[in-house]
Amino acid sequence: MATAAILKQHTPPGPPPISTNPLGQLRFGLRVTGDPLNVMLGWFKEYGDMVHLQFGETAHVYFLAHPDHFHTVLVEKADQFHKAGSYKDKIRGLARILGNGLVTSDGDYWRRQRKLIQPAFHARRIEAYAEEMVNLTLHMLQKWQDGQRVDMNQAMMRLTLAIVAKTILDTDINDDAEKIAEAVTVFQHLAFGVDIFPLWLPTPSHLKQRRVEKAMNDVVTALIAQRRNVTEDRGDLLSMLLNSVDEEGQGMTDQQIRDEIVTLFLAGHETTANALSWTWYLLAQHPEVEQKLHEELDRVLQGKAPTLADLKKLPYTEQVLQESMRLYPPVWNMSRQALADVEVGGYTISKGSEVNLNTYAMHHDPRWWEDPERFIPERFSPEREKQTPRMAYLPFSSGPRVCIGNSFAMMEARLILATIAGRYRLTTPESYQLQVEPLIALRPRGGLLMTLQKRRTESGQRLVLSETAR
Ligand code: HEM
Repeated sequence: MATAAILKQHTPPGPPPISTNPLGQLRFGLRVTGDPLNVMLGWFKEYGDMVHLQFGETAHVYFLAHPDHFHTVLVEKADQFHKAGSYKDKIRGLARILGNGLVTSDGDYWRRQRKLIQPAFHARRIEAYAEEMVNLTLHMLQKWQDGQRVDMNQAMMRLTLAIVAKTILDTDINDDAEKIAEAVTVFQHLAFGVDIFPLWLPTPSHLKQRRVEKAMNDVVTALIAQRRNVTEDRGDLLSMLLNSVDEEGQGMTDQQIRDEIVTLFLAGHETTANALSWTWYLLAQHPEVEQKLHEELDRVLQGKAPTLADLKKLPYTEQVLQESMRLYPPVWNMSRQALADVEVGGYTISKGSEVNLNTYAMHHDPRWWEDPERFIPERFSPEREKQTPRMAYLPFSSGPRVCIGNSFAMMEARLILATIAGRYRLTTPESYQLQVEPLIALRPRGGLLMTLQKRRTESGQRLVLSETAR
């Protein structure tokens, strides 16, 4: 009783403890896993910025949504936290598919890998991919027709997949790339869906998991073996990984390269595809923003496809994407585990506790964002951006574990948005009801069916657009 009273004073408020008996777990699992985002938002509303949840007698989970708390966990005391939750679970979580890659690893091992991989993301290296990104987008557009209906979520997934396949593996989108993509999608559902059966049970879904996992591992293993025999730098990320050595002259083993490739495949295509999907959805709902975007694109590009050099002349295009990632941050929640007792926001988070940083809640908080539910790209104009509190906008996280692909993703998303919006308007049917599906990335549930409209000039003429990048 005395212990409970002391604990109460030292823990933030939260829902009643969750029983560890199987029925209690199942009930909780179904409620939270079924709709984790809304459940968490409800808790923040009821209990404030820091929510505590206890499982049984000893396990504690914290949910945070305040910019200062993000700063403490991600920057100031980053070395006192490791990755947690579904990142680490080797049976049902991301670690099963990603192994010990950059997203799931920790400590000295992570530091070494980050150092080895970082050069692959240097500006000069990734800028070389700009033309390829535009060409792959134009290639997709060649198959589009005026009036056609397209699932834009699927189209963006395919396009960003083609881009990672080219930039990571220097391969065109083919059966091999599809096998990797299928596996990462299936395992996301395993990590974030509800599955009450033990994994050894041969349910159709478990059999599918085993099949796609094997297919993916076979592809990646063969690919590495093939490329080990070639010493030339093909300009892709795999070349960098194969040729990189640490201070002791040690390179990466095949297993390490396998884990990093699969990690980059997952981290590098889902997130960008979803950021773009939300952008198309928001543009369709906000014709005044869409018009301003079109004006910028038409003025700067004059009907041509964008190049890397054009990007700095397209500030509104960037603001549209930034605001879209505020409203729908692709990585909406980040999990960590405390390595020691750590003080955050005046409370002690005990060693071993799990901490969830809810970027979505922070991005929708009226204390930091005026009219937070409204889509206003001008928030990110140079004049207004300064008004946002530090750390209140973190689509790519912050601190040592900040997204390594940040610049890659922003370059890619701007080029794709400019290429497509220069040629097409996309509309949603009136009956469309948006539903958010929070897996590892926030995505539109059931896809995003949109109608393509070739853009016309003010006098009603179809725009004549050059199909080649300058
Ligand atoms: C709009 C697109 C993207 C968004 C919103 C995004 C967001 C994020 C966030 C929030 C994290 C931190 C996760 C955490 O610490 O819990 C992260 C990490 C990471 N991202 Fe991205 N990402 C995007 C695109 C990319 C791309 C294109 C790549 C690679 C080609 C990439 C590779 C990674 C990797 C490897 C990590 C782990 C870094 C580490 O822990 O050292 N991401 N990303």
